Amino acid sequence: MKVAIGSDHGGYKLKEEIKGLLASMNVEVVDVGCTCEDSVDYPDYAQPVAEMVAAGECDRGILVCGTGIGMSIAANKIPGIRCALVHDTFSARATREHNNSNVLAMGERVIGPGLALDIVKIWLETEYQGGRHERRLEKIAGIETKHAGVK
Ligand code: RB5
Repeated sequence: MKVAIGSDHGGYKLKEEIKGLLASMNVEVVDVGCTCEDSVDYPDYAQPVAEMVAAGECDRGILVCGTGIGMSIAANKIPGIRCALVHDTFSARATREHNNSNVLAMGERVIGPGLALDIVKIWLETEYQGGRHERRLEKIAGIETKHAGVK
């Protein structure tokens, strides 16, 4: 599996911890930054991660900012992206099984690193269930198509 990862300054430390976990899981990582705790703008990191996933260059994406909210809003603007903002292990499993989420967003100022790493592991290892959920994902894609190009 190949995972694109990005953070702003508010998520930098957690991003680095997640990279350590991914290395221990033999997951290939593309890190788009940021590279330190100097203030930056989260859309500049959400966009390349989401674009790599949407283009099929990476299998999944992980985004971290202070809350995870800005990253998730930005990533979900990219067609084909289903970014889930997750801060508990139940949701980490459910969003893979039900939503086939392809990007995970978390907030470093919301949860501690222990829980965050558990969430990442569960999210990466849980399979999409398909079945009845497929119809719902098709409806989400339909919304995207209907509004494509609308200003
Ligand atoms: C940066 O201060 C903060 O706004 C950002 O990390 C994130 O929480 C935005 O949603």
